[in-house]
Amino acid sequence: MSLSERASTTYLKNQEFLMKCFALCLKNPYCKKINKDGMINMGTAVNQLSEDILQEKLNQPGMFEHKPDLQHYCGLNGTLEFTKTLANFFTSRLSHGVEIHPEKIRVVNGVSSALEALAFCICDPGDIILIALPTYARFIADMGERSNAKLVGIELTAEDNFDLKPERFEKELLKLQEQGEKVRGIILCNPSNPIGKVYNKETVDDFLDLCIKYNIHLIADEIYALSIYDNSKFLSVLNYTENQTKGLVHFLWGFSKDFGIAGFRVGVIHTHSKDMLQALDGLGIYVSVSTHIQQVCNKMLLDTDWLDKVYFPNNIKRLRNSFEIVKEVLGDLDIRIVKASAGLFCWLDFSKYLEKEDTESEIKLFKRLFDEGKVYIVPGSEFGCTTPGWFRIIISVSEDILRVGLTRIKQILTA
Ligand SMILES: Cc1ncc(COP(=O)(O)O)c(C=O)c1O
Repeated sequence: MSLSERASTTYLKNQEFLMKCFALCLKNPYCKKINKDGMINMGTAVNQLSEDILQEKLNQPGMFEHKPDLQHYCGLNGTLEFTKTLANFFTSRLSHGVEIHPEKIRVVNGVSSALEALAFCICDPGDIILIALPTYARFIADMGERSNAKLVGIELTAEDNFDLKPERFEKELLKLQEQGEKVRGIILCNPSNPIGKVYNKETVDDFLDLCIKYNIHLIADEIYALSIYDNSKFLSVLNYTENQTKGLVHFLWGFSKDFGIAGFRVGVIHTHSKDMLQALDGLGIYVSVSTHIQQVCNKMLLDTDWLDKVYFPNNIKRLRNSFEIVKEVLGDLDIRIVKASAGLFCWLDFSKYLEKEDTESEIKLFKRLFDEGKVYIVPGSEFGCTTPGWFRIIISVSEDILRVGLTRIKQILTA
């Protein structure tokens, strides 16, 4: 029996690039002890740097406790306990005292689901969301695959140091409106994936103004907000009050990156929009997080001593150290490494090592790295970068894997 046209075209015809490479790496993973020639995965954005700290914490007695309440339908949009803890966590770490209220928080099973839910709530099929390119590729999939929102990119350039220029978004928006298209929102990924940059207050303010001016939504994906490892000043949209946002700003965060527990599938949406909150309540049954996982995450956040003295300082130090290792190992090549401030990755220009300056040659280099070098890193074209030669390297792997992977990259580039 055949599947629906939409399921067939979306999932049977072409497997998505990142998922495909991830699956191939899983078949033959590198291991220092038993599989030295295996694949090094520096393409999938997971944070393995603090596994030891998390393992110790999560295995502590009392982290998992069963109560009958938890076995029934409860906390489909976030349990009361967890949303209260999240509100305090955000108030103290991201909104600098602007009080975050638990009733404006919804817990969902990952930021991917949050993006899908927002696309469903904001867009009718074919409506447009604007996004900076290069971009985390799954924005397009998460918002497009089932909700059929159309993402339109505005390309950032190396010459501009990949700075965001809100006026270019305005120009594109006006052009699209003139063509009769409906632009419904902008995604602001800050800190940015794949660049690793933190966009400053002025830029975030300008995006808010733009969204208010045109009455469109600002979807602020801040999933890397607590992985900033230099002294960049970061402004979370949680700093804006209800009056300032006019119900148009939706903040997204999750446990997958800053805590490296992507397998727990926990994401969070905060919004002042009452309509959006009500719509998300309707969607709750499809995107809810297991009560027991909410309980464990709640306990992690309640241990502020552990967060302040153990987890965050070590995780940040390790991320910073990883970026230094990239510069140390690859620093003598003829490449450009964009200064990263945050996140699990860095963004590098290998164009000097391409046969020709075109996307075909970039993919050829990707394949040599993957097939001969046994190292998976994602080529820029997968993020919508049209300047050939850029790659994203995930740095939040163990030091052994990072050094072996970088050495393999260097060998292929200089062969
Ligand atoms: C910017 C960004 N948003 C969302 C996600 C997805 O996160 P989750 O695991 O919470 O679905 C990722 C994962 O790489 C990401 O980089």
